[in-house]
Amino acid sequence: MATIGFASSLKTLIKAAKTVMVVAPAALFGKASKLPPLLGKKNDELLAELARELKPGDLGSAATTLTGREPRSLAIGLLPDTLSRYNAPSRAECVRRVVGQVARGKGKLGIILVLDDPEHLLPQAIAIARCFPQFSGKSQPAEARRVQILAVDREGQPIKPPARTASTMSAVRDSAELVDMPPSDLNPDGLSARARALLEPLASQGVTIEEIIGDDLIAKGLGGIHAVGRCALAPPRMLLARYEPRKASGRHIALVGKGVSYDTGGLHLKPRGGMEGMKGDMGGAAAVLGAFRVLVQADCPHALTLVLCIAENAIGPAAYKPDDILTMHSGKTVEINNTDAEGRLLLADGVSWAARVLEVDTIFDAATLTGAQMVATGLLHAVIVSNDAELETHLIASGKRSGDLVHPLPFAPELYRAEFSSVVADMCNSVHNRNNAQAACAAQFIYNHLEGTDVKWAHVDLAGPSFPKDRGTGFGVALLAQAVLDL
Ligand code: BES
Ligand code: MN
Ligand code: ZN
Repeated sequence: MATIGFASSLKTLIKAAKTVMVVAPAALFGKASKLPPLLGKKNDELLAELARELKPGDLGSAATTLTGREPRSLAIGLLPDTLSRYNAPSRAECVRRVVGQVARGKGKLGIILVLDDPEHLLPQAIAIARCFPQFSGKSQPAEARRVQILAVDREGQPIKPPARTASTMSAVRDSAELVDMPPSDLNPDGLSARARALLEPLASQGVTIEEIIGDDLIAKGLGGIHAVGRCALAPPRMLLARYEPRKASGRHIALVGKGVSYDTGGLHLKPRGGMEGMKGDMGGAAAVLGAFRVLVQADCPHALTLVLCIAENAIGPAAYKPDDILTMHSGKTVEINNTDAEGRLLLADGVSWAARVLEVDTIFDAATLTGAQMVATGLLHAVIVSNDAELETHLIASGKRSGDLVHPLPFAPELYRAEFSSVVADMCNSVHNRNNAQAACAAQFIYNHLEGTDVKWAHVDLAGPSFPKDRGTGFGVALLAQAVLDL
């Protein structure tokens, strides 16, 4: 497994490095190079020459050359100079792509980030962290690589990473690792054990953990979580972690995550090809867990409660069924018309608990809730839905700052309510018309269980961004940590 850290100076970064990569805006390599002196005259000239042969394209580009001296190879990552207003000014995704091109090599790798703005350090460092996944199920894992990063300004002066940078990078990697872990390693018991292990070091900062497991969920009125998970070999559970700040702002924020360790679809079984990848259906839980850890380590001034809604959506004689009517924590009843729309049942209970039992003022929930999220906003922007216009704008800004981009869909209870109409219960759990704003409707279902409270709520559907292809990204960790700290 690779180790990633920050070098204290150019000298230590270069020392013993086999490859040095410089990641810089293309504007620094015009006719006359404006690259600050970094690696000595010869190497800097070689870099400028490499860059001149290269165009950044839309998403950045990279090139490598052997030097015949130290470091053995030099790489350049060029970042495009123009971007749309829906992109992150740090161009974090471009950094991920260019660093991804050298990530597979061997030996110590030094990465120099030439920044336009010191604010770009955190998102660019996270982008690098994403290039070095921690999980491996191979019998012969690849050589552990050492990666060192140094950020400099346009004059070549080192920029010190803020304390939150390293903790966020490591939480992002841990969350991505959880997403990558197969269901053979990570059932509901395993997810809870892993979460506890990651929260353990925070005990000294006053973090306490509590769990409601199996049939105890019923006793507490958490009928949604119980129904979804009750037939799996490992029981469903709600894990609660509480943090009280030393200097309290008076606010209390809940971070609620969908932790479906595996989603078979339930009795409405997913078709062949539709189930593969559903090990990632706990990406929301992984995101809020990571954000919670970063926030505690950053001495967040707000009280926080982490709420992980954990279950495996399995099949068996005890599985919840189409036509079942569940009584949820909110007191509302739900007729099941699709057992594959399970995430919203977990989250409805989780957010209701946060609002009614914990009496928080603000809730962020994160979930791999719908395939429709990807149709709506793709693999880089998560969908957000909020009942509060200010919170929505705030979250968009947090996305641009953290590099975890988001885009809002409508919050319109009165327009979507009919999609869930039920003859025999308060509502169904799945929409009648799949072509009517599915991702927004799924969010609306969750909110139905907050009606009557005055909580501010924002929902993040990160189905695509947390697991876009074959690796978890840790998406949402930096977004939610940023959003809470900036409140
Ligand atoms: N976990 C899935 C959503 C999902 C799909 C995440 C693809 C990542 C990739 C969720 O539980 C689900 O099955 N959603 C259904 C909802 C439908 C039954 C209303 C969907 O999106 O098709
Ligand atoms: Mn499902
Ligand atoms: Zn699911």
